[in-house]
Amino acid sequence: MKAIGYSIMEFKAGIFIVAMLAIVLSSPAIAQKTKNPPAPAAPILPPSPAPAPEPHHVDLADLLSVAGPFHTFLDYLQKTNVIETFQNQANNTKEGITIFVPADSAFAALKKTTFANLTQDQLKSLLLYHAFPKYYSLAEFNELSSLNPVATFAGSQYTLNLTDNMGSVRVKSMWSNPEISSSVYSTAPVAVYEVKKVLLPMQIFKSDPPLAPAPAPAPDAKASDVAPSPTSGKSTSAKAKAEAKNSSYQVSVGIVNYLVLAVSGGLMLLW
Ligand SMILES: *[C@@H]1O[C@H](CO)[C@@H](O)[C@H](O)[C@H]1NC(C)=O
Ligand SMILES: *[C@@H]1O[C@H](CO)[C@@H](O)[C@H](O)[C@H]1NC(C)=O
Ligand SMILES: *[C@@H]1O[C@H](CO)[C@@H](O)[C@H](O)[C@H]1NC(C)=O
Repeated sequence: MKAIGYSIMEFKAGIFIVAMLAIVLSSPAIAQKTKNPPAPAAPILPPSPAPAPEPHHVDLADLLSVAGPFHTFLDYLQKTNVIETFQNQANNTKEGITIFVPADSAFAALKKTTFANLTQDQLKSLLLYHAFPKYYSLAEFNELSSLNPVATFAGSQYTLNLTDNMGSVRVKSMWSNPEISSSVYSTAPVAVYEVKKVLLPMQIFKSDPPLAPAPAPAPDAKASDVAPSPTSGKSTSAKAKAEAKNSSYQVSVGIVNYLVLAVSGGLMLLW
């Protein structure tokens, strides 16, 4: 009895395997026509999430080299490495940064020797004095002006006073009080505003630095107020394509698995 039972089972198993092979090998197209296949136990495809956007950081050197002209200020930032301090603040803090960038004409208006005798530390402080270690939109200056004097990136004794007179915002240092003449870039966490005078703190300049004797040079071409919008990354679209390709591959693999399951499921029913 036992022996017969085994052999019948073996026989059945043999038929099952042969039938499986025959159906799987014959044509998947036949299996594809199966109507209302049973729902697969586990989802084959995880819902593919939208590709996470690459964190975008404004490149301050790029920005200052295309806007302006701000070449003098940018040169000083690069010579002193203060550009790194600013870029790090822009990239890696949630507070962000606000920078007051004097146009080239602002430096040209001062005597060439104005910065000649500054120590490296003084020069760094002067540059850091042109920034707040926090992002402020222009709309926030009105409120900020009630907090005068406001400490700059150069430290708590290096302060600026702000005034907002019906939307005309001025930045007051000891020896200059320029108006913000344009918003070069202002999207949190980075704000860059143009000023037409260098900010001159009393800690570095004991007296009002003399102006250049020559009359002001030809007015510099007015730069556009708005920086070119950051290019939306090519890399992301390439990445998206790669991901799409990948998921279509997953789909076809999933279908094959599914068909095999469906075929064996059907056989089991017949069984
Ligand atoms: C800031 O981020 C950019 C990329 O978004 C990177 O190339 C650069 O090295 C970063 N700089 C700093 C100082 O974190
Ligand atoms: C810079 O230093 C030199 C020599 O020490 C001096 O002759 C000159 O007047 C100084 N210039 C300024 C702007 O202080
Ligand atoms: C800035 O404002 C404070 C408070 O109003 C005042 O005491 C200080 O003298 C001002 N500083 C400058 C440079 O105007």
